[in-house]
Formats: sequence, structure tokens, C-alpha cells
Amino acid sequence: MDNGNAEKSGSHAPSVDVALVCGARPNFMKVAPLHRAIATAGRLSQALVHTGQHHDFEMSRVFFRDLELPEPDVHLGAGSGTHAQQTARIMVAFEEYLAIASPRIVVVVGDVNSTLACGLVAAKSGVPVAHVEAGLRSFDRSMPEEINRVATDTLSSVLYTTCDDGTRNLIREGIAADSIRQVGNVMIDSLFRYRAAAAAYPSALPESLRGERYALVTLHRPYNVDGPDALDNVVRILEETSRRLSVVFPVHPRTRKSLERFGLLNRLAAAVCLLPSQSYLSFLGLMLAATVVLTDSGGIQEETTALGIPCLTMRENTERPVTVELGTNEVVGLDRARVGAALERALNGRRRPGVVPGWDGRAAERIAVDLMLRLSPSEVRNG
Ligand code: UD1
Repeated sequence: MDNGNAEKSGSHAPSVDVALVCGARPNFMKVAPLHRAIATAGRLSQALVHTGQHHDFEMSRVFFRDLELPEPDVHLGAGSGTHAQQTARIMVAFEEYLAIASPRIVVVVGDVNSTLACGLVAAKSGVPVAHVEAGLRSFDRSMPEEINRVATDTLSSVLYTTCDDGTRNLIREGIAADSIRQVGNVMIDSLFRYRAAAAAYPSALPESLRGERYALVTLHRPYNVDGPDALDNVVRILEETSRRLSVVFPVHPRTRKSLERFGLLNRLAAAVCLLPSQSYLSFLGLMLAATVVLTDSGGIQEETTALGIPCLTMRENTERPVTVELGTNEVVGLDRARVGAALERALNGRRRPGVVPGWDGRAAERIAVDLMLRLSPSEVRNG
């Protein structure tokens, strides 16, 4: 499915109730529980549409394996590129798919380019859009994800939120309350489902680090890794962190390319245990055993909260403030002194999972029921 020659935009696509869209790594752990819940409920037909935004084995297919997702019904083969190129390629292919499959609703998740591209095409084609993980806001339009979130929410007729602040943001923006459903967090569904399997999964750690305390790092945001100065600062922070405890860093392809381009890879490798980007189960295994996590990811802020693992967010803001309110996450930016002080607090603090209503492993079931009520109400009510 990831070879770029895969089936293009569904020339034989049968008509379905739900087109469930995924495209990039953080989408897969969100669509997996949704696909399962819709299939288990059994009332609605669905097609899993992969845009091809992420295409390498370790960025895509390995997640289908770990999350027990079936092969996508349709692969749009969009691939990498600038924002405009990538978004446009997805839009053109998805428009062709919609014309043939005519789904009754398009479900998009998260905030990646695939989310916006497919939401925009569906809305303009007159197909209702349901956005899972609606309402999150960093209030920072320099992040492409923020633009994707705001635009997708504006286009959506059903908005599934993960927590109170998401719901509040939408109400403040004037979105009709009856189109908002606070259902909880589908990514936490996957986390709870696979936690035990991940703990038993063969560790990606080198022998020398097994049983040791370590900081787990993930960094791939363009403002942290695309420029030489920012990336040099990141490397310094990780070097300083490595003087306090071991550092383990599975490297995203974007970040690896920048480290190579700016000649920083060898310096970082001297201080830090660098790994290739990991599969879902392998990464979750690394997270479960970590003493602290340093990240610029959104989803990992939520996963560490649910697990009670201290998280330092190397950004100036977060669209997930509930993780900060609950005390598991601290937004530390890229200031070395701030990171160092927060690291000490994290190493000396108590670990306690943050409890958020609806982060209970059953969010996808609630969405599946809601979709059934919308698409076949009488049948569902009569049971
Ligand atoms: C995208 C999402 C981001 C998400 C991240 C998770 C947008 C705007 N950004 O960022 O929100 O947190 O995914 O990974 O949608 N590449 C590969 N192989 C792949 C995919 C990408 O080598 O399978 C490389 C390519 O050089 C590509 C670069 O990574 O140019 C960036 O990929 P892209 O999908 O543009 O953005 P991400 O940084 O992955």
C-alpha cells in the first residue's frame, strides 16, 4: 500500500456510509479504534482512505500492523512535498474518490494536511464532515496544524471534542452547540488497548540502557528542526540533558535530514542514543519505561498525561492545556535554563496519571453510536 503505485482514488470504489480518512503517522492510532468500533457495531459500511501523506514503511505500514488495521480500501498516493503540493494532490485525488464512492459522511481526525484537504473537498462536494479531535487551539497560526484545525472545524458539521477546553473553544468561535459532541479521546483508546502488549514488546533499547533511567525524546516540528540555529540549540539541550540521565531519541525522517544537512548528527550521536523512528508498540514500550519525556508532539503530551509520565513540551505553547493543568506536562520552550529547571522538577516529582473525563478507552464506541444515530436513526433506536 505504500509504494506509490497503489490503487489511485478508487476507480471501482463502492458506495459507503462512512469514508474514514487517515494520512500521517498520528492519524493511525486515532482511526484504528474508530474503524474497529464502526465494524463491531455492524450497522454502517465504511471505507478506510489512506491519503499517502506518510508513505515510508516505518511511518505508515508498521502502524497498520501494530494497530491491527486492515489494508486501506483506497490509497490516494499523495506523498511528500510543500504544503501546497501535498494538500493539492490529496484534494484532487480525494475529489475523484468522492465522485465515485459518494459516502454519506467523511470522518477526518487530528490536524495534519490530510485532515484539512479531505475536509475541504468533502464540504465543497456537499458531503458532511465529522472532525474527530475538534476544538484544540494553540492560538499560534505559525503552526500549520493550527491552521488545519481552525479551517477543518469551520468546515465540519459534526465536531467530536476530546475535553472541556476543546468544546469551550468551539462555542467561543460561534460553532452551534448542537453540532458539538464531547466524546473523549480516541488516541487514548489505542493507548489503553495496547499498553500491555507494548510493555511486553521486545525493547528497542540497547542492552546497556535496559533497566536504566532515561529521558525519551521526540522532536520534529519545523521550527525546532528545520533551521540550523534552532536545531543547534536543540542539540545543546539534549547534550545537557544527557549529563543528568541517559537520553533516547527515535529520530523522525524530517529531523534526521536536518541533522545531516547541518552536520549535527555525529555530535548528537556522541551524547544521545539515536534510534530510527519506531513502530507504535515499540515507541509505547519506550514511553512506558521512560523516566521523563521531552517532546514537541501534541499526542504525546496526552499519552504521558494518561500514563502519569512527566512530560516537558519543547514549544512555546500547547493546544492541549488540560495536560498542563493536570500537572504531568510543563511547556518549557527551547530555553536551556527553563528546560534544565523543569527537568529537575520532573525527576524529583511524584508520578500520577491525569484523569480526564472520556479518556477511558471508549471514545470510539461513543462516536460509532453517534454516527449510527445520524445515518440510520430509526434502525438504531429500535435496536
Ligand atoms: C506531519 C504533520 C504533523 C505531524 C507529523 C507526524 C502536517 C502539516 N504535519 O509532519 O502535524 O505531527 O506529520 O509525523 O500535516 N518523510 C519521509 N517519509 C514519510 C513521510 C515524510 O521521509 O513517510 C519526510 C519527507 O522528507 C517529508 C518530511 O518527512 O518532506 C516531512 O513530512 P510531512 O508529511 O510533510 O510532515 P511531517 O513533518 O511528518
